[in-house]
Amino acid sequence: METRRTAFPTLQQGDDRVQTGIPSLDKLIEGGLVRGDTTIVAGQPGTGKTTLGLQFLVHGAVKCGENGVYASVIESGEKLKRNARRFGWDLDVLEKEGRLQLVSLQSTMKAGVSTALETVLEALHTVKARRLVFDSLSAHSPRIKLRQLESSSSNLHTQDEGNRESA
Ligand SMILES: Nc1ncnc2c1ncn2[C@@H]1O[C@H](COP(=O)(O)OP(=O)(O)O)[C@@H](O)[C@H]1O
Ligand SMILES: [Mg+2]
Repeated sequence: METRRTAFPTLQQGDDRVQTGIPSLDKLIEGGLVRGDTTIVAGQPGTGKTTLGLQFLVHGAVKCGENGVYASVIESGEKLKRNARRFGWDLDVLEKEGRLQLVSLQSTMKAGVSTALETVLEALHTVKARRLVFDSLSAHSPRIKLRQLESSSSNLHTQDEGNRESA
């Protein structure tokens, strides 16, 4: 019997996937992002990176019971909220319910990278976050290294209270 090997083997069935909330994207990437991975979204300004990040968190909070943190180096919370309203996402309500926390790092970045990351960690613990979006790593935050972010995301909560592991 002939066995065919593919040059692009699919990931193991049963991998724990994190839905992005965009059905066509989730289908394309075999169910969602692999839980525990740190994923970089790259693109020119205006290509929808911030919106994708917000949708990922809103979907997680509303549909998956997974709280989230949006750490922004660039945009204020108010601007994010205003833009989110255009898509029907009420970030104020999610914040009040403790399902989402927006963290503006504009001022904390001036105090240093460690201070900024501590602020993010505190927010992760406050809402028992399972999803973290960091916007962005490029032009405005050259001092933050991917490795440092990964160490923050290793503090994301599992569904068991108080028990933390990579998500
Ligand atoms: N899926 C989408 N459908 C409609 N408009 C979108 C979509 N994604 C982004 N936009 C709009 O495009 C503009 C740029 O999006 P944004 O997420 O801020 O991009 P980036 O973060 O890559 O600069 C915003 O006005 C946003 O509302
Ligand atoms: Mg953006």
